[in-house]
Amino acid sequence: MMTWLQQRMIESEQEIGIGRLDEIDDPGCREFEIGEGDWPFRGFVVRQGDAVFAYQNFCAHVGHPLNWSPNKFLTKDKSAIICASHGATYEIETGRCFAGPGSGGSLRQVELSIRDGIIYVTGPTSM
Ligand code: FES
Repeated sequence: MMTWLQQRMIESEQEIGIGRLDEIDDPGCREFEIGEGDWPFRGFVVRQGDAVFAYQNFCAHVGHPLNWSPNKFLTKDKSAIICASHGATYEIETGRCFAGPGSGGSLRQVELSIRDGIIYVTGPTSM
């Protein structure tokens, strides 16, 4: 049986469509927000070929958003995710931090599905 808190957390989740997979550079990223107001849940997806990965935009180091420019989350060679603040570097496929501050930590994965070529993410409606 679910607790009141578990039930409330499920009720406050939302699925949103964030666009077509083939509209995102390969490799490339797209930001999204779930919810409204001052504290929406912020995340981003990374496309790598036909694979897509989704994470919360919250660095494992000290919690800054990872990007300073819209939709820019990758290293110059586009082989990894990098935080613009202090350089924590994450694997695209797992979100595991393997270099820089925050090593050993991970990005929070976000539930994702692709239907008819559209990417959908599901997450809480606030931070
Ligand atoms: S907040 Fe991301 S590396 Fe420091």
